[in-house]
This record gives sequence, structure tokens and C-alpha cells, in this order.
Amino acid sequence: MALYLITGIGGFIGSSLARALVGRGERVRGVDNFATGKRENLTDILGQIDFREASILDLDAMKSICNGVDYVLHQAAIPSVPKSVLDPIANNQANVDGTVNVLVAARDAKVRRVVYAASSSAYGDTPTLPKHEEMTPSPISPYAVAKLASEHYMTSFYRCYGLETVALRYFNIFGPRQDPSSPYSGVLAKFITQMLCGDRPTIFGDGEQSRDFTFIDNAVQANLLACEAPASQAAGQVFNIATGRRVTLNEMFSALEKLTGYSGTPEYGPERGGDIKHSLADISKAEKHLGYKPKVNFEQGLGLTVDWYRQQRNAPQENKNKEPVSLRS
Ligand code: UD1
Repeated sequence: MALYLITGIGGFIGSSLARALVGRGERVRGVDNFATGKRENLTDILGQIDFREASILDLDAMKSICNGVDYVLHQAAIPSVPKSVLDPIANNQANVDGTVNVLVAARDAKVRRVVYAASSSAYGDTPTLPKHEEMTPSPISPYAVAKLASEHYMTSFYRCYGLETVALRYFNIFGPRQDPSSPYSGVLAKFITQMLCGDRPTIFGDGEQSRDFTFIDNAVQANLLACEAPASQAAGQVFNIATGRRVTLNEMFSALEKLTGYSGTPEYGPERGGDIKHSLADISKAEKHLGYKPKVNFEQGLGLTVDWYRQQRNAPQENKNKEPVSLRS
């Protein structure tokens, strides 16, 4: 049976991947240093995974962790545009140096394939919509530059060493377990928790910026397909992972008013530095080469996510972080 290594397994996406793989009866190893991930995200599966606490910046540790691994799902990162603007050096260390370490360790351990969490931010603020993979990237923030550089490292390791790599450009992934607590958190996690508490959310700019918000189950599906796809279709390639539909922040706020029962108005603040205006993916390449099809649309995903955060608020401490029945049925 294949062994999967998930870097950043304590994070929102990493722990969701782990849960899905464990649910399929697969063997899972995970690494995290809890710089941004959380132990609580692993509570319910800790007994079923081989967890190693380490930093991806520790090459010796990564070499030993990659021993015997078939697939690496590389999710570990400092995943924030504004944080990268404030601290480009830390961004580069985690998001570029960390990736090179993972690749070297994977290459030396003769891993079958590395699947990478790339980012839609690579496209930048180019006016063309939808964004397709043939477009020339135009990253704005240090985060976007780092994610793009790591994508190129993926392709380079395929070309230079024959290590099979697949880069998945995630478009604004959201869902249960996304950390809402930091000023750098994804907008949906922030708004849902604020609105459930009756707190007023702040929209940066006029709220007409739009995103291709993508529910976590779609990203999980894409990772599994990226492992399974024939090398002729996937190796050394980059794929958009999204839904192919964009929603403005104002529309998203209206949808959340209904789901959360929040009755106030949003506050409008200045635009955020490094932000892009619109983001929408062309997902035809992933459909054609990976067999990817988004399974959960924006409204369904939003409903499931609000239900999960509401359950967290209401649940006694010991029941927190349990899987909502509706999500994996
Ligand atoms: C970007 C990347 C995404 C990456 C993510 C990591 C793009 C298109 N996407 O997402 O691939 O995974 O960073 O963090 O570049 N906002 C508010 N109020 C808030 C918080 C955010 O109005 O309290 C706004 C932001 O200004 C932005 C939008 O909501 O316009 C989305 O922000 P966020 O969730 O942080 O994600 P992106 O920066 O789009």
C-alpha cells in the first residue's frame, strides 16, 4: 500500500487531506512544526497517522521523514499575502527554501511524485479573465513570487532529475478548520466567525473585488487525482484548481447574512496592499488531464462551512473539531 507524506499536516488543507486519506484506508505520514498549523486539527486522526514534528527547513529531518514515502503532498507554507508584504524574508524561507528542501529530500528518497500547493496569486492583477495556465504570470506580493518560484522548482526537479511533480494552483480554498483567528486569515473564515458572533466584518475596498472561492473537498479531490494521473498527463505540469465561477465580496457578505442571521452592515475600509481585484479560473486543463470536476459549489460549501463553525461555537470543549456528519457522507 502506498505511503503518503503530507507537509503542513496540521494546517487547514493538510489536515483535510489527511482525514480524506485515512478515511480511504491509506497510510499517512505527516510533518508540521506548528508555526501556522494546529495540533487540534489532528486530534481525531492522530492515532491513525505517523506524525513527525519538524520544520521543512531542517533538511536532515526531511530526508529521514521521506524514507519509504511514495507520494508527497507539499502543503507546508506561511500562507498569507499581507504577512509576506510585512516579512518577505520569512516568507521566502518557508515558501521557497522549504520547498527546495522537500524536493531534495523527495528526490534522494526516490519518491514517486510530489504534488505542490501552488497559488492563484501567481497570475497577479492581469485584466484577462478567466486565468489560464498558459498566461504569463505576473505576481505582485512576495507570497505570490515565492509560490511561483516553488512551482518552477517543481518543474525543474522533473526536468533535471526526473522526479515527477504536479503543481496545483489553488484559488481561495475555504472550509471547516480554516483558522479565523489571525488578522491574516482567509476572508471567509474571518467573516463567518465574526458574523456568527454578531461582530461587524470589515471589507477592504468597495467589496466589488471578486474571487473564485473553492470549497476544500474540491482541493482534496484534486490532490488525489494528481497522484493517480498518468505521468504523461500530469508530470511537470501546473493546473488551476477552482470552480470556474467568481463571487464578489459584497455578494459573499449577502449570502452570509442569510446563513448566519447577522443583521448589521459591513464596515468598508481602505484597500489592502498587494491585493488583486478579480480572480477567476479556467479549470479546463485540470478537467482534461486530471479528470477534476468540482464536486461542491460555492453555496453548498458555504452552508457546510457555516454549519461547522456554528457547531464549534455551540459544542462543549471536548467535542470540538469533530467531523460534521454531512461533510463526508
Ligand atoms: C490570496 C491568494 C490565494 C492564497 C491566499 C493565501 C489571490 C487571488 N489569492 O488570497 O491563492 O491562497 O492569498 O492567503 O491572490 N478581505 C476583506 N476583509 C478581511 C479579509 C480580507 O475585505 O477581513 C478581502 C481581501 O482584501 C481580499 C479578499 O478579501 O480582497 C480575499 O482575501 P484573502 O481571503 O486574504 O485571500 P486572497 O488574498 O485573495
